[in-house]
Amino acid sequence: MAFATRPFVRAASSSSAAAAATAAAKKLIVKHVTVIGGGLMGAGIAQVAAASGHTVVLVDQSDEILKKSTKGIEESLKRVTKKKFADKPEAGAEFIEKTLKNITTSTDAVAVVHSTDLVIEAIVENQEIKNELFKRLDKFAPEHTIFASNTSSLQITQLANSTTRQDRFGGLHFFNPVPMMKLVEVIKTPMTSQKTFESLVDFSKAVGKSPVSCKDTPGFIVNRLLVPYMMEAVRLLERGDASKEDIDVAMKLGAGYPMGPFELLDYVGLDTSKYIIDGWHALEPNNPLFLPSPLLDRLVEEKKLGRKTGEGFYKYK
Ligand code: NAI
Repeated sequence: MAFATRPFVRAASSSSAAAAATAAAKKLIVKHVTVIGGGLMGAGIAQVAAASGHTVVLVDQSDEILKKSTKGIEESLKRVTKKKFADKPEAGAEFIEKTLKNITTSTDAVAVVHSTDLVIEAIVENQEIKNELFKRLDKFAPEHTIFASNTSSLQITQLANSTTRQDRFGGLHFFNPVPMMKLVEVIKTPMTSQKTFESLVDFSKAVGKSPVSCKDTPGFIVNRLLVPYMMEAVRLLERGDASKEDIDVAMKLGAGYPMGPFELLDYVGLDTSKYIIDGWHALEPNNPLFLPSPLLDRLVEEKKLGRKTGEGFYKYK
């Protein structure tokens, strides 16, 4: 009897070990997403995730902010639907209703992460505040849950190090406005597992985006090229080589860009651009591409931050 059962037990345990290994190697199919931060980016991410059939909890600091986020999502969905379901208004209304049903809101991140597959953080761009949030959530989220940050300028590795799940941590960098912009940069740190990376790539595709991958380097792909380009335009203006109007016209008509660099700076926000370049300059003080600009610094000091304050390089009514 003993002889008969032993090989069976061994066979069963080795096959179950193999099954467990296969399961562990399998990519995570994300069904439930927790988005922390219901601002410009977080609301957009929640919208596209919900519109593609994921259940989403959107978290922010107050019910008032969340009400605003939900209203913004509803309005954005109406705009999307007008185009997408131009001849079928009923199907459009159904799509909006279904998408909104997939979103719930909360002011307590800890209370909602217990059953989530993916946490996407899109809160204020501050290392300490983000670290504190991830550290706290790490204790309450299930083992399998992947953490991702939407940060534009902070190191994903440093954020991952505030948790014990460095292998299940990556960057998911969406673009503004999220429902319109097709790109997502998926950032892999040296500690991100292949399974996590692939799960994030699959999630990006599932929400209708085109993912590209990049290592954890300043600015990833888009901002690494775009920010120094905009800073070079400011330096061109500072030297008096050309006017901002002519530089904008030149890049639109000569390079086929939809916006000139000064129009883009005003759209992004001069404070945001300054914050990014200052951060990179601190990391690599000898890199001439990352040098700060006195003109940009002065405009930010004068609170001329671009479109959002009514004046930046240009005036807006
Ligand atoms: P935002 O200021 O519009 O929204 C941030 C939201 O986070 C606010 O509603 C705020 O109340 C909330 N928040 C702050 N601390 C929180 C906490 N501890 N818990 C819960 N909620 C909290 O900012 P935005 O523009 O949406 O940016 C968010 C992140 O996305 C930043 O890391 C930024 O670098 C990144 N990003 C921004 C882009 C942009 O064009 N604005 C583009 C790509 C990434």
